Amino acid sequence: MIYDNLSVNDAGHLAIAGIDACELAAEYGSPLYVLDEDRVRKNCRTYVEAMQKYLPDGSAPLFASKALCFKGIYPVIESEGMGADVVSGGEVATALAAGFPAERLCFHGSNKTDAEIAYGVARRVGCFAVDNLNELAVLGREAKAQGITQRILLRVTVGLDPHTFAAVKTGKVDSQFGVPIETGQALAFAKTALATEGVEVVGFHSHIGSQIFEPGSFCDQVDRLLAFACDVRDELGYVAKVFNLGGGFGVPYVEADPKMDIAANIAAIASHLKAGCEGANYPMPRVLLEPGRSIVADAGVTLYTTGGTKTVEGYRSYVMVDGGMTDNPRYALYKSAYTIINASRAADPADFACTVAGRCCESGDRIAEDICVAKPERGDIIAVLGTGAYNYAMSSNYNRVPRPALVMLSGGTARLAVRRQTVEDLLALEL
Ligand code: LLP
Repeated sequence: MIYDNLSVNDAGHLAIAGIDACELAAEYGSPLYVLDEDRVRKNCRTYVEAMQKYLPDGSAPLFASKALCFKGIYPVIESEGMGADVVSGGEVATALAAGFPAERLCFHGSNKTDAEIAYGVARRVGCFAVDNLNELAVLGREAKAQGITQRILLRVTVGLDPHTFAAVKTGKVDSQFGVPIETGQALAFAKTALATEGVEVVGFHSHIGSQIFEPGSFCDQVDRLLAFACDVRDELGYVAKVFNLGGGFGVPYVEADPKMDIAANIAAIASHLKAGCEGANYPMPRVLLEPGRSIVADAGVTLYTTGGTKTVEGYRSYVMVDGGMTDNPRYALYKSAYTIINASRAADPADFACTVAGRCCESGDRIAEDICVAKPERGDIIAVLGTGAYNYAMSSNYNRVPRPALVMLSGGTARLAVRRQTVEDLLALEL
């Protein structure tokens, strides 16, 4: 199996962390998001341990909440010693409602509203990643008005274009995120920030993209960020204590995808940064990373019930599932590949060539095209693997489809963490 927390049990069913997927679907209904908490913890530990080993004290991973935000995730990442990146008032509120310490939050977002800024300051989030001058001015005023000095990172764009799909690249020069180094604007941004009352600049933030497999991209990012930091030191006399390098480590979705060794990648980034700092005579900064996908993607499985197959003679066969782009829009948006198996017949040969189609009235509602699964009967459970990141988080109510429930598995038991949305929940919004 592509992820080693998955197996086939004696009933010939898919087991997730040892628990029968068909029994989960029978108990909690479908579609169903399943999250293997023990796998999330293992991924957290890989980051925490490698960062402690290779980077200066105070370096840490912050979980990128955007990948999977619900209350139940926060006690897990907190107890594993991580912070969290949050990008909206909603994510801040969710983390705080779960009891997550505000000082371990880093508040991102390219267009935070005045209300969100005031709320973040009032709730004493540890740090803001300030995206631009507009926000800087509001934040400085708000922090002063509330009588605090807000720690901030300045978000800059290093102008890199790593190999990944266009919609998730954020580091290139022409970007709506952060302030570009190349045009000289980032230096001016730093100058203004250093003179702004109410804030204390602790360092710089940069994020170059997502689903990146080449360690070289992160080393290039480090080079550019360090060169910028040196310019700021030389021009403005300011030395950064923190480099936040964002997220982006890639995960395999199908067997053909490369596998990234997270610890080795962190070691490579650390030694590259250390050498760069020595060469530039720059004090080694603390490093923050913001992994999202690589913490939760391989811990998630989505279970569907199939309504059966449909063959268009001479063309293709479809496996119809009771969810689709509403719970997983990533194929419709990015043509993202997934590994899909018939969980009810996991021991049978995967020899039925098909396209997996969702239930929405839209021809783009597909989860995968031209794959093979063991031929399903109506009622079989279809498992889509690797759906822990950006699936629940990006789900919608298109076609008035309620969002699925989410169960967490830990130590061989399952517990409901998010109940299934109902049509009544949706109607309750309407006056
Ligand atoms: N930090 C910042 C500032 C980010 O913008 C992102 C992702 C992350 C951290 C986390 O990156 P990760 O480790 O998860 O790659 N919806 C897309 C992914 C968009 C990512 C946006 N930013 C998808 O489904 O693939």
